[in-house]
Amino acid sequence: MNPSGHKASPFDLDDQQAYQAWRDSKLHHRPNSIDEYRLEIQDPHALKDKDIEGVRTLCRLANWALVRLARPPEDGEAAIRSLGTQLGLIRLDHNPCAEESGITALAQRNTERGYIPYTNRPLSWHTDGYYNPPHSRIRGMVLYCAQNAANGGSNAILDHELVYIHLRDRDPEFVKALMASDAMTIPANEENGRQLRPDTVGPVFSLDDEGNLHMRYTARKRNILWKNDTETRAAVSAIETLLSSPEAPIFHFRLAPGEAIVSNNVLHRREGFEDDETTGRVRLVYRARYYDRIAGTGLHDA
Ligand SMILES: [Fe+2]
Repeated sequence: MNPSGHKASPFDLDDQQAYQAWRDSKLHHRPNSIDEYRLEIQDPHALKDKDIEGVRTLCRLANWALVRLARPPEDGEAAIRSLGTQLGLIRLDHNPCAEESGITALAQRNTERGYIPYTNRPLSWHTDGYYNPPHSRIRGMVLYCAQNAANGGSNAILDHELVYIHLRDRDPEFVKALMASDAMTIPANEENGRQLRPDTVGPVFSLDDEGNLHMRYTARKRNILWKNDTETRAAVSAIETLLSSPEAPIFHFRLAPGEAIVSNNVLHRREGFEDDETTGRVRLVYRARYYDRIAGTGLHDA
C-alpha cells in the first residue's frame, strides 16, 4: 500500500520500485517456448479444475494460452461460448458483423463493407476493438479455428505487457505519451453519408478498474490519427521497431482445427491465406470478444 491507501501499481510512472519488482517477476516467470502455452482440454462444455487453472496460470503470466480441444466439436460456436463462460468471459461484444450469438464467424465473405478480417488478406498487428469507445474496451478474446486454410493464415502473438516493459525500459516518456487520453484517434466510420461510429479518441495504454493494463493499438496506416507531437511519434516508432525486430518475444504458429487462442486481448496479427474449395480447406475461425478479462488473471490474483 502507498500512503494514500491504494495498492502500489507497477504501471505508475512515479513508482519505479513497484514497476521493477513486477517487471523482474514477469520476465522471470513468463513461458519462453510455444509448447509451454499449449493446453489440451477434453470437453469445452465441462472444464476440469486443472483446465481452468492451466489457462489462468498462463494468462496470469503471459495473457494468453493456446488451447486444443481433444475432440473438435460439431458446434464450434457453442463450444467457445461455453469455454469462455467457464473462464469468466461473460459480456460479449456484439459488433455489427457478429452473428446473433455475438460470436463472429471469420471466413472469406463477399461483404459490401469489405472489412479485411472477412478477406484472405493479412491483418497487421493490432489488439481487438481498438475502435471501440472507452466504455466497451475489449479485455478478453477467444479465436477458435474450426477449419484452417489450404495455405497460410498463421498467427503471431506478442503479450502487450512485454511491449510496455520494452518501452518503459527504453524511455518512460514513451509510456507517458501512449497513456495520454488523446494519443490515438480512429476517425468516424461513415457509409453512404451515414455515421456508423463517431471518432474514437483514447490512449494506447490504460488501466482498468482493477489496475490491469490494457493496450489499444493498430499498426495500420490508413484511418488512424496519431497525436501530432514529437513524444507520440517517437513512442509509436519504438513500437514499430519492436514489432519488426527478430529479437522481439513474438510467437508464431498456425492454428489447427480444434485449437483456440484464449487471451486477455494481446497484440496479434494474421498472415494472408489461400482457401481451396475443392478439398474443403476453407478457413473458418470463430471470434468471441468480451468486455471481461479471463477471471483470476489480474495483477492482484497471483
Ligand atoms: Fe484480431
